[in-house]
Amino acid sequence: MGIVDEDVARVRAATDFVQVASQHIALKKVGRRWTGLCPFHAEKTPSFSVNAEEGLYYCFGCQAKGDVITFVREVEHLDFVEAVERLATAAGIELRRDDAKEGKDRQRRSVLTEAMEKAVEWYHQRLLTSPDAAGARGYLRSRGYDGEVVRAFRLGWAPDDWDALVKALKLPVDVLKDTGLGFVNKADRQQDAFRARIMFPIFDVNSKPVAFGGRKLEGDGPKYKNSPETPLYSKSRTLYGLNWSKPSIVEAGEVIVCEGYTDVIAFFTAGMPRAVATCGTALADEHFRTLKNFARRVVLAYDADSAGQTAAERFYEWEQRYEVDLAVAALPEGSDPGDVARKAPEDLRTAVAEATPFLSFRLHRALSAGDLRTAEGRARAAEAALNVVGEHPNPLVRDQYLMEIADRTRIDVDRLREGIGRRGARPEVKVERPAGFVTQSPAETMALRLAIHQPEEMAPLLDEVLFSDELHVAAYRALASAATLHDAVASADPGAAALLQRLAVEDAEAEPLDVISILVIRATDQTLPELVAEAARTGHVDGTMAWAKLTIEQLALDSDIDPGTRKDAVTRLVAWLAERGGPQP
Ligand code: UTP
Ligand code: MN
Repeated sequence: MGIVDEDVARVRAATDFVQVASQHIALKKVGRRWTGLCPFHAEKTPSFSVNAEEGLYYCFGCQAKGDVITFVREVEHLDFVEAVERLATAAGIELRRDDAKEGKDRQRRSVLTEAMEKAVEWYHQRLLTSPDAAGARGYLRSRGYDGEVVRAFRLGWAPDDWDALVKALKLPVDVLKDTGLGFVNKADRQQDAFRARIMFPIFDVNSKPVAFGGRKLEGDGPKYKNSPETPLYSKSRTLYGLNWSKPSIVEAGEVIVCEGYTDVIAFFTAGMPRAVATCGTALADEHFRTLKNFARRVVLAYDADSAGQTAAERFYEWEQRYEVDLAVAALPEGSDPGDVARKAPEDLRTAVAEATPFLSFRLHRALSAGDLRTAEGRARAAEAALNVVGEHPNPLVRDQYLMEIADRTRIDVDRLREGIGRRGARPEVKVERPAGFVTQSPAETMALRLAIHQPEEMAPLLDEVLFSDELHVAAYRALASAATLHDAVASADPGAAALLQRLAVEDAEAEPLDVISILVIRATDQTLPELVAEAARTGHVDGTMAWAKLTIEQLALDSDIDPGTRKDAVTRLVAWLAERGGPQP
């Protein structure tokens, strides 16, 4: 374990991605990128794209992405070290191990874990004994949580105070920050991250505390505040409750996936201690990769409506890729497991026991929404049902459900087969148009694309004030603060990293100055009225002068102006905007 970073980078640089990928799939060159059929999901038209220069791939169909090491890990089912070793052998590179580095990482983790453990215990004791937690205790009792539940899940109370935890634990400031337990405020004082919240500690699969979800009792702010990602905590990998539910999941061969902390607890109290929840994120690939190690059957216990909200295609892909069976528990509409567990635990058990395959669940909803008493109603219901069934990738599965539709709608099954044939087996993902073009701010994504593909030209001109979309700002920051695209992806949060990886495989056929001019004009246009208003308010002429100057500068952004002059105008305007710091309140 612990390969020297530099050697990992050497392996990456020495490896030809296209050559490695070509051992598994047929790649074809289209413009600057390569495309082929994605090895990670079933498809008929190519969605898998490769940026050969950067050695990155992105699939527009299933959002699989990464570099050559990830690719080898995924197709060959290897871990990181094994994948690097395999590539190093092929490239004739000898790997050096870094035991010191590994030792240091481990030490750091144990320092952070220790701090988290202290915090869990401190919050827990506050809830159990402190007078200021009386309201929280009352609230929990009213929801049916007795002392046993509070102890089993180590629930806690973060007092209504700025720095109670900070004062009590006296953690070094870097530990405070790296655990997400606190931060240093503008007055240069250490401050608690959680205040006046019921604390749900989140543990990793080995029962080490890694994060918190804090539920407010009353007042403003979001219902839950969750710890940020930290060296201990990755949201897309962590499942709340897995530490407690693991033995029951393995024993039952089944895991119940629900939406929140309170839902997991509800399933435990209703006698089904095999529930887990994602922590404020959607169910993702990584969650499945974890779950498939424990159980073959995954029961989704979502509120009936939100279960349908994740794209159906993703569910079928996960079933295929991770070899799990996905079923949906039909919970009473609009209610959540917490309510059902308290009012009628028997109903919750029945819903899980009678969970039906995902496709069957959706098919019944489609059919029962229609009026099956009239011919017109039956035809419409059949149409809706065919749409649902058509999404399943397996023709044998589809055919069986067609019989059921035929039965319910009294339509000949051969007619239905024709209908589904016309629809095509599953919606194809089109790649002719880079996906970035359809977002609200195409100029921003194009600017990011150019910053990736032509960094020498684009990077010196850009500034974060030019981006309005939060995700774009995050992606830009990651790019601007990293030496290579690879480092940028590694340092960005998951959303921004995914965006960068997608943009890296998209074509960037545009003139940098055209694109940046659009952004600059938009930003200055927003600023001009502010200047006029400022001038009117203060009576100073500076505002008016600046306004006049900006207007003149803007003229130089026209594409007919010579590139040198245009570039100078861009540089001056961006510097001015950066100094002003974005739109003023
Ligand atoms: P719910 O709103 O269903 O909350 O959100 P809940 O868990 O049922 O809690 P109670 O019953 O109202 O007390 C489900 C999950 O979504 C995440 C949390 O993980 C929560 O458990 N969430 C919700 C957030 O991360 N932030 C929020 O503001 C709300
Ligand atoms: Mn809920």
